[in-house]
Amino acid sequence: MEAHLTVGRVAGLTGVTVRTLHHYDDIGLVRPSARTAAGHRAYAAADLARLREVLAYRRLGFGLREIADLVDAPSADAIARLHRLRGLLLEQRDRAAAMVTAIDRELETRVMDTTPPHATGAHLYESIGSAYPATRRTEPRIAARVWEALGDARTVLNVGAGTGNYEPTDRDVTAVEPSSVMRAQRRPDAAPCVAAVAEHLPFDDRSFDAAMAFSTIHHWDDPIAGLREMRRVARRVVVFTHDAGESAWRQRFWLTRDYLPEVARLVAGRPSVHRLADAIGARVSPVLVPWDCADGFFEAYWRRPEAYLDPAARRAVSVWTRVGPEAERRAVAALRADLASGRWAARHHDLAALDAAELGLRLLVA
Ligand SMILES: C[S@@+](CC[C@H](N)C(=O)[O-])C[C@H]1O[C@@H](n2cnc3c(N)ncnc32)[C@H](O)[C@@H]1O
Repeated sequence: MEAHLTVGRVAGLTGVTVRTLHHYDDIGLVRPSARTAAGHRAYAAADLARLREVLAYRRLGFGLREIADLVDAPSADAIARLHRLRGLLLEQRDRAAAMVTAIDRELETRVMDTTPPHATGAHLYESIGSAYPATRRTEPRIAARVWEALGDARTVLNVGAGTGNYEPTDRDVTAVEPSSVMRAQRRPDAAPCVAAVAEHLPFDDRSFDAAMAFSTIHHWDDPIAGLREMRRVARRVVVFTHDAGESAWRQRFWLTRDYLPEVARLVAGRPSVHRLADAIGARVSPVLVPWDCADGFFEAYWRRPEAYLDPAARRAVSVWTRVGPEAERRAVAALRADLASGRWAARHHDLAALDAAELGLRLLVA
């Protein structure tokens, strides 16, 4: 004899209230095919299957009358109905995906249009800083180079510290960061942070064993003055930056060379990396960018070009804001087209074999 389930059990299995099940019975949508000797509703496996189908249509937003037509359609066998249900779900998924894309575009346009491209230094970070943590984190292989260069320093000043990504945890660190938005995003257990700029460090001469600056000196109003300040307050200076020279960076990196020549305007008039090094008597050594670099800085995705299509990745890198929305839209559209047509892959097939690239990033140690 076929096993039957009580209305309470069916309610427990499907998450529908007993009251709703009674209603479905009353309107003939899901009728239990039997009654117990005491006259209680008893659901067979086929009743339960019909109920599940009704509930699936419910979740899609259909009304009870429409559902009744769907499940009672004489020509529709179970497989055809499941196909139809599947199709409806896929349509719903595609609609949701299209809405997410539209929202992303809207967000991107709003952020791009409200951030003044002429803002620089800490002012720029007051405006773009909240997008920073989305893709910016410590790249351990590059951090290891910086920490090694700090030598045996016990006390370390981290200038332009931002959210503190490159602060060593085994030394006594003091941070300097002028942007309140960036300071607010530091972890509660991060090093103490002073609101100040590199050009005027509020510390006595030789207060620290070492001073470090990571990916920040290109934002300073006067990088040479800032480096001299680091030199004044610390015995050792370690700086991670880039050589923005024509051959080292702009022409070497496909993104700046082929898609975003506007960066030339951003770096015009900046002191060369050698002038910066000379100002503090530093040695300069190249730092290669690993193909899977964990920190999403501008050059990080040289072998993962699709990443540049992601608005979140671009919003976490100041260059994209500083070139302005028009240049950004044009560059991204061109890259998107080249990726879709296979043109990018054809031009850069040699990159797939590289594990790390020399893109002008430099470590200065004095
Ligand atoms: C690209 S972020 C780098 C942050 C951090 N060093 C890191 O690697 O995650 C650049 C930082 O430099 C800071 N900055 C801008 N102008 C500065 C100045 N004149 N002195 C010190 N820091 C400055 C910005 O506020 C921002 O937090």
